Amino acid sequence: DASDIEKGTYPHYMLKEIDEQPLVIRNIISKYQDENGQVKLDEEIRHAMNAADRIYIIAAGTSYNAGLVGKQLIESIAKKPVETHIASEFLYNMPLISKNPLFIFISQSGETADSRGVLVAVKKLGYPALTITNVPGSTLSREADYTLHTYGGPEIAVASTKAYTAQMAVLSLLAVDSAKAQGFELDFDPIKELSIVATVMETLCDQKEALEKIARDYLSVTRNCFFIGRASDYYVVLEGALKLKEISYIQAEGFAGGELKHGTIALIEKGTPVFALATQEHVNLSIRGNVKEVAARGASPCIISLEGLNAEDDQFVVPKVHEYLTPLVTVIPMQLIAYYAALHRDCDVDKPRNLAKSVTVE
Ligand code: G6P
Repeated sequence: DASDIEKGTYPHYMLKEIDEQPLVIRNIISKYQDENGQVKLDEEIRHAMNAADRIYIIAAGTSYNAGLVGKQLIESIAKKPVETHIASEFLYNMPLISKNPLFIFISQSGETADSRGVLVAVKKLGYPALTITNVPGSTLSREADYTLHTYGGPEIAVASTKAYTAQMAVLSLLAVDSAKAQGFELDFDPIKELSIVATVMETLCDQKEALEKIARDYLSVTRNCFFIGRASDYYVVLEGALKLKEISYIQAEGFAGGELKHGTIALIEKGTPVFALATQEHVNLSIRGNVKEVAARGASPCIISLEGLNAEDDQFVVPKVHEYLTPLVTVIPMQLIAYYAALHRDCDVDKPRNLAKSVTVE
């Protein structure tokens, strides 16, 4: 049961929480479907989505990274314009707000002060707010008009894993529900596709040895490393880099593949690890081109690709899932690589220095 907060036989909560991801996805599927196996959200939330002419997603840290994927899901499936903002920056330079906005707050804990600051401000302006959280009774949940529960069970490790994939799963359901409410024909059955995701997650969680070896080969001694991706892979590499820096203290940056040449490539030295995510046909050649560019400058590339688009010597291949949901599975090798890198460096995996699970000060 995902709500069991004992570590059991696991050495760390983080590893346990990574392994719980298939269970959490299945939990979400069962909580958000009706008796006919159809996605069903609260009427109120459906109406709020329907009424919105633009959606503003507000979040911090890993939840922000989920919000980037959320923008893509809602725009592709529900055809509503979405902006994703870092909570702590939003009020400094507020965008022009549309006539009928809906604010969506994404927060594992529901207690992040930066996000709450925005919620208080937008409520004062009279705008509707929905909170997507793992903790329904939390401040952000109570103070918003609506709540969607991510059903992840308690997340103890400071580095967020299962909450991130749960947030993206719930965002996909929100997008589908809104599309249906608008009468769109969908060629995407989220219940079926999320079940496939859960199964693929299991397969990936069974490949710990291979991922531990990658962590050992690439990250044992390095001081820095890069993660590159394009299109939706870019959002996932931001999360991959964040995971690695949080728990292993290796300086890690996620970059859009095409942006490398505009500066960052100057940092590539002999042996610099570069993790490249290549899971989308339309950018496959371009991202592999970036890998060649860094390799020519001495980098050690590690390519994580999708089955069917992979080259024979790619370091890790992820089974295919629906393209909308690819980020839910490609993040798993990144989480496990970060975990093993931290372990090999004797870091305190569950309680990294200087970080708190929930930050209740601005
Ligand atoms: C802290 C945690 C991060 C988390 C962020 C946002 O910085 O260390 O792991 O992503 O807060 O937290 P929230 O609870 O709002 O998702």
